Amino acid sequence: MSSAIGVGILGVGTVGQGVVRILADSAELLEQRVGQPIKVVAAAVRDLDKKRDYLPDGVALTTDPMEVLTNPLVDVVFEAMGGIEPAKSLILKALRLGKHVVTANKALLADHGTEIFEAARLAERAVCFEAAVAGGIPIIQALNVGLAANRILSISAILNGTCNFILTAMTRDGKAYGDVLKEAQSLGYAEADPTMDVDGTDTAHKLAVLVQIAFGQTVSTEQVSRRGIDRLEAADIRFAGELGYVIKLLAKARWRPDGLELRVSPTLVPKGSQLAEISDSYNAVRVEGSAVGDTLFAGRGAGMMPTASAMVSDLIGILIEPRSRIRAAAELWKPFAGAPRLINIDEHRTRAYLRFQIPDRPGQLAHLARILGDNGISIASVIQHEPETLASSEVVYVSLIIMTHLATKGAMRRALEHIQKTCELNGEPILLEVDARAGQPN
Ligand SMILES: NC(=O)c1ccc[n+]([C@@H]2O[C@H](COP(=O)([O-])OP(=O)(O)OC[C@H]3O[C@@H](n4cnc5c(N)ncnc54)[C@H](OP(=O)(O)O)[C@@H]3O)[C@@H](O)[C@H]2O)c1
Repeated sequence: MSSAIGVGILGVGTVGQGVVRILADSAELLEQRVGQPIKVVAAAVRDLDKKRDYLPDGVALTTDPMEVLTNPLVDVVFEAMGGIEPAKSLILKALRLGKHVVTANKALLADHGTEIFEAARLAERAVCFEAAVAGGIPIIQALNVGLAANRILSISAILNGTCNFILTAMTRDGKAYGDVLKEAQSLGYAEADPTMDVDGTDTAHKLAVLVQIAFGQTVSTEQVSRRGIDRLEAADIRFAGELGYVIKLLAKARWRPDGLELRVSPTLVPKGSQLAEISDSYNAVRVEGSAVGDTLFAGRGAGMMPTASAMVSDLIGILIEPRSRIRAAAELWKPFAGAPRLINIDEHRTRAYLRFQIPDRPGQLAHLARILGDNGISIASVIQHEPETLASSEVVYVSLIIMTHLATKGAMRRALEHIQKTCELNGEPILLEVDARAGQPN
């Protein structure tokens, strides 16, 4: 028997335990694929007493990650601890010690990728991160290899399973955001502190990673304009439904001759389109390539086994094609020649869903329509609902929903500011983007 490939694992939590489980359950198959047995030889955790369902067989756990990195039997280090530090320092150290690295840490890659991949280049080692975006969906390899013949024209993706689960339940049951979030937490679909998921930060991390691979543009999370689902109202989900749409939290990147549009926002997508059909905690990535046209990748975007599936696939990639993985790590995080500039959010073009609570009086709609027109925004359709709110003694408000044609976000911002100054609105106006290209109807 050939000598074993040694694996060291930093973090034996949800994802780390999944890795251990696949390496044990599929040992024979994996050995056939790579021609050598694979063995977990060292693992680090914070708390040695914590109960774990899947423990590395015969491996003493340590609380000192350096013991894992310096173990001479460790060839490949799995970073599955999360967070920025000490994960970053440990990855850099592992590379300096000549180990390949597999990580699922999108937050770290999004904001420190340049430093990590420069260290990989100097060490001539691979850093693989299939699990960092869309969990079990092999989108990184698809962009790197499968679609390499294409200029990527656009990406529209559902990248956060927690948000998609919440939006699916709000749409199906008509419940309020807060109630569904509590339910998602009790079912384990949302963290006790779900802030990074629901405010769009996690999706922005993943979009930053995708943009690096697809467009050769290094962007920090801060540069991605983002809005989450945490302020979404049940009324908008209902009205969107009446208009033939569902609301999804979309990460979007669109190449234009003059630059790249990037954003994360709750977006109306047409019912029956491919992205509209992605429910519960599933993820999907729609990629439009210059030669291939539209492609759609869908599957489980998180969870123990899907995430571990992606990490173990990276390990196999490193073992069967080390030179190409090392080369990819050395080249990936550099700007492509002619990488596009980022387009300011005010210059982004979109169709929009606008909702206003206006006084139920003649002339109000004409006034709003005039302001929108003055700002170059043309109206595609309007619906007005029967009065619902008696906000003060005399004033009765009605919900007015306006769907617009394409216009810049800047024009919309200016129009809404003007409307707020000159109309007696109840509450803030609501603006949601409308995705005109959410895939072909099924
Ligand atoms: N969970 C998912 O579905 C998923 C999906 C895609 C990507 N990811 C990414 O995968 C990574 C891990 O996520 P997870 O859900 O598996 O997290 P988790 O369940 O919290 O596990 C983290 C593990 O790291 C260990 N750890 C943390 N800090 C440590 C330190 N300083 N020294 C030693 N061990 C330390 C913890 O030890 P203890 O067990 O002793 O506390 C635990 O075993 C994160 O980057 C996450 O973003 C997760």
